[in-house]
Amino acid sequence: MNLEVLRIERFRNIAMLEFFPHAAMNFIVGSNGSGKTSLLEALSVLSTLRSFRDNKKQALVQFGKPQAFLHASVTDGVSHATVDMEIADTRFTRVAMNGKNLKSGSQYLRQNMRSHAVVFHPSDHELIRLDARFRRRYFDHLLAAEDTQYGVHLRDYARALVQRNALLRDTLQTSHTQQMIRSLGTILIERGTDIIFTRLKWIEKCNRLLPILWENAQYCSLQYSVVCSHDRDGIHHFLSESFKKVQQAEVRARVTLSGPHRDDVHFFFHGKPLRYASQGEGRLFLLALKLAEVQLYCDTGRKPLFLLDDFSSELDSVHRSMLMHTLRSQRLQVFVTTTDRESIPSDAQVVEMCYGNLRGGRLHDN
Ligand SMILES: Nc1ncnc2c1ncn2[C@@H]1O[C@H](COP(=O)(O)OP(=O)(O)OP(=O)(O)O)[C@@H](O)[C@H]1O
Ligand SMILES: [Mg+2]
Repeated sequence: MNLEVLRIERFRNIAMLEFFPHAAMNFIVGSNGSGKTSLLEALSVLSTLRSFRDNKKQALVQFGKPQAFLHASVTDGVSHATVDMEIADTRFTRVAMNGKNLKSGSQYLRQNMRSHAVVFHPSDHELIRLDARFRRRYFDHLLAAEDTQYGVHLRDYARALVQRNALLRDTLQTSHTQQMIRSLGTILIERGTDIIFTRLKWIEKCNRLLPILWENAQYCSLQYSVVCSHDRDGIHHFLSESFKKVQQAEVRARVTLSGPHRDDVHFFFHGKPLRYASQGEGRLFLLALKLAEVQLYCDTGRKPLFLLDDFSSELDSVHRSMLMHTLRSQRLQVFVTTTDRESIPSDAQVVEMCYGNLRGGRLHDN
């Protein structure tokens, strides 16, 4: 999916901006605090309904203003569509496609004609440092974007989990409560099997892809925290046994102790846990992960936007040219921010961000 027009109003420090991006490379240059990341963030919100900076949508609206507006025209090369979003307080108050309001965010995420974005942002380093929750959330978003059914399984699982935990916390354990806990456990095992199956399949594909991406990526690998057979029956059996094993402990802990909501994805570089690697090695790993993400998303028959924040500080010149070469060969539409004009490839459209305004490129008259 390519973006043809982008209009941003009252979003972070951008009062009003209209941008006609190039179909391939777009570089957004500007000094610190000019609004470069804010522009990428608007693209991320349009594509995925979430920011890569934080999830509090309130911060997205310009200080002192009631609402932010985003508008985009997108094309898959054959058809065209428009997207309109209104963000107020902490929520999306309107999401529309081709002028028609959608009932929910998940309805938007199921639309084929929306864009999707793979983002490479400095905060991605938190994926290495922080606890399992962040990695789960990262992979869950990624997998739900590739496969809408995964999103449905996650939602059903989360619903059953909340209900089961509430019943486990209930001090008055009647036979009815225990029956309900068992039935909800069955739902968790069924949906949990679907979730773990999809996660394992993705990790397997990613591990196969990494060694052929580029030279250094051969040292990167991922491993799911739970070791079980990769077929559905094996996962189902494994989960049923795990639920049985923790049954007594759950009564004491009053919380569901087994299932994909507690799993993790471990990262390795040269066979060692990535958390022991240097910062540069961490960057290489993340770059490899993003490129694998792009490739696996493209395998679904659609193309994501690629958003890269802080080009010059994140990558050295060798990896910058390798990345640009890969993105060009994938024919992706790319948006990159940088403070350093020297690092910009000659074939890129360059726009300059200045106090929330754009200059250069193919811009709107006002
Ligand atoms: N909700 C908001 N309303 C208005 N301004 C905001 C809001 N949130 C952040 N800002 C301001 O927007 C400005 C631009 O921030 P942004 O992170 O986009 O800059 P940047 O060009 O990416 O800078 P850097 O090169 O340092 O990464 C900052 O001065 C920031 O304080
Ligand atoms: Mg920035």
